[in-house]
Amino acid sequence: MRLALLALTTLPLLAAEMPILTPKPGPEPRINGPRVYGVRPGRPFLYRIPATGARPMKFEAVGLPASIKLDAATGILTGTAPAKPGLNKVTLRASNAHGKASREFRLTVGDTIALTPPMGWNHWYTHYDRVSDKLFREAADAMVASGMADYGYSYVSIDDCWMMKPGSDDPALNGAPRDSSGRIRPNLRFPDMPGLTAYIHAKGLKAGIYTGPGPLTCAQYTAAWQHEEIDARTFAEWGYDLLKYDWCSYGRLVKPATREDFTKPYALMGGLLERQNRDIQFNLCQYGMGDVWKWGAEVGGQSWRTTGDLGLERDTRLPGFYSIAFKNMLLADYAGPGGWNDPDYILIGTIGNARSMSQAPKQTTLTAWEQYSYMSLWSMMASPLFFSGDMGRLDEFTLNVLCNAEVIDVNQDPLGKQARVIRKNDDELVMVKPLEDGSVAVGLFNLSEQPRRVSASFADLGLKGQRGVRDLWRQQDLVPVSDQVSAEIDRHGVALYRLK
Ligand code: GLA
Repeated sequence: MRLALLALTTLPLLAAEMPILTPKPGPEPRINGPRVYGVRPGRPFLYRIPATGARPMKFEAVGLPASIKLDAATGILTGTAPAKPGLNKVTLRASNAHGKASREFRLTVGDTIALTPPMGWNHWYTHYDRVSDKLFREAADAMVASGMADYGYSYVSIDDCWMMKPGSDDPALNGAPRDSSGRIRPNLRFPDMPGLTAYIHAKGLKAGIYTGPGPLTCAQYTAAWQHEEIDARTFAEWGYDLLKYDWCSYGRLVKPATREDFTKPYALMGGLLERQNRDIQFNLCQYGMGDVWKWGAEVGGQSWRTTGDLGLERDTRLPGFYSIAFKNMLLADYAGPGGWNDPDYILIGTIGNARSMSQAPKQTTLTAWEQYSYMSLWSMMASPLFFSGDMGRLDEFTLNVLCNAEVIDVNQDPLGKQARVIRKNDDELVMVKPLEDGSVAVGLFNLSEQPRRVSASFADLGLKGQRGVRDLWRQQDLVPVSDQVSAEIDRHGVALYRLK
């Protein structure tokens, strides 16, 4: 044993600095993803049961409404939501040569969608204006091939730059922005929008798109100003499942002063999206102006960016994701099933530089522990989980950060509570998140520059009695505790526990 340890410490520095914590999933099935799911009555239904384990696997869904069918080999559910609102208690099952698993899936037909935070990928921080139909098909392929889809990642989302760009000298971008009926025209890199969403949907995944209420997007491409109705209809006809709506040039038309000034463009598009014949999640992107968290849900939003762009955030002593989290974590009162605070994407893996977009994407400079802290913060804050690194260059370490089923369970917990801050100073952050089964998730973060012991007493956490402790990153049970949780944590690291 001693010898083995010695050998380990002589491994190359990089491996020692980037410890992989997430255990490899076993060959037996484990069903992942949300336990609750909302769909509006009569709308198209699509859900790929996320499950790890050896394939082939056989899926079953007990208690499914008659209008929804399961493909037993792929685990993809398709059909139409029942016309009648109400709760359908479905049990999902998966079996293979190594065993079987089941998971409840409460399918609620009603007005509220996004009962848990959406999960997926957005192209912005890797590809910027270098996007094409091909790239999204490849991203969808990679979401399945990498296993990300087996953990619940489902949206493949286009950000800015799919439209025409007035005045561009690139012939692929410089065409009429709309056809004679006013319908928006994608640029020549997107020859077949319905074909693209069909490709994504055939894998059981969802498709996201982007525009804004002003005449132009942030990158100066054509946006929805005075064409909101036809654009909402077009996105629905093309088959999109999510719209990010980015304020940007709208700010040149309106200098917002009143609440009404802030809400107006979002209420308009939110109402239009709800009237389409498919569920389209509405992601408000206006950087937190006008306390968007107070009215984002009222205007039909399922998530709202609470801050400026994470990729543009200046690093202070700590990397930029911390300062974004420090703002977002104060807004716990405003998050819940159907409406989530969005602190922007997860920028790890191979990732571009938002300050110098033409630079080739590079491996993140965040340390391993910073990446675990990042994912832990986003999970504790019940934030949308959108990776924005390069799907074509996913590495083992990045996947271990993104794909820990027990960490994701905290993010996707049906209670939908955003963690509360118990303590925050220059050296430590302690957060607690109540979970539906009566357990609580506790995040102990070391913000200091040295290894440090971080503790939280049961009094701080509002707990009594004895609690089992699960180390979520390592997926290991620890010794039960009855007075405090405490851990020795590396610089900028985290201990994420579930107290049962
Ligand atoms: C804004 C948004 C980003 C991204 C870019 C695209 O900066 O906040 O998330 O969508 O626009 O131009």
